Amino acid sequence: MDSYIIRPELPEDTSAIFEVHFQAFAQDGESRLVNALRDDGNINPNLSLVAVHDNRIIGHILFCPITIISETVETPALALAPLGVHQDYQCMGVGGALIEAGLAECRRLGHRIVIVVGHPGYYPRFGFTAAKESGITPPFPCPDDAFMALPLRPHALDGIGGTVRYPVAFDKVGAHTS
Ligand SMILES: CC(C)(COP(=O)(O)OP(=O)(O)OC[C@H]1O[C@@H](n2cnc3c(N)ncnc32)[C@H](O)[C@@H]1OP(=O)(O)O)[C@@H](O)C(=O)NCCC(=O)NCCS
Repeated sequence: MDSYIIRPELPEDTSAIFEVHFQAFAQDGESRLVNALRDDGNINPNLSLVAVHDNRIIGHILFCPITIISETVETPALALAPLGVHQDYQCMGVGGALIEAGLAECRRLGHRIVIVVGHPGYYPRFGFTAAKESGITPPFPCPDDAFMALPLRPHALDGIGGTVRYPVAFDKVGAHTS
């Protein structure tokens, strides 16, 4: 594919971001999740990245704030959700580039942990492993290998255990996947 750029979302991207998830997932749950998170003030534009090809948004990734809650401590983290690439541009590296760019920005901003609910055949190549191995559990039924965590710096998962609390927008639209 010809070149594309990855950049933070702009206010005028809202409807194109809705459309790209609607097209990628063939349903509107992920699109509505992004809008609900934005309405609730849970989107940092630097962690909401779009891939743009020929002035058209062909992919989007969002990292939103979550909390990992144990009996003694609440640890801030990020959820990678959702990630979508337009069907015409899938399997060309766009999703991977959005993940790599997003994780780099997460690190730059000082975040320590990213959680994703996603395909266990895709996310491990970016360093994600089963969150259960670190004692981190989802607040909903989910296969162990689909609920994954990534430490953004060495030892970031050490001693972190607990259940993830997602923003209420996830419950509103019933979406927890990437
Ligand atoms: C999943 C998705 C974000 C990947 O982005 P992409 O730009 O197509 O993927 P990349 O080009 O970076 O990587 C291609 C690899 O991802 C794999 N892949 C693509 N879609 C996948 C999916 N839904 N589940 C698992 N693996 C997938 C491809 O088989 C390919 O694997 P290979 O490198 O071993 O051959 C994109 O295909 C998409 O939006 N799909 C529809 C929405 C969706 O299913 N999201 C859930 C993600 S778990």
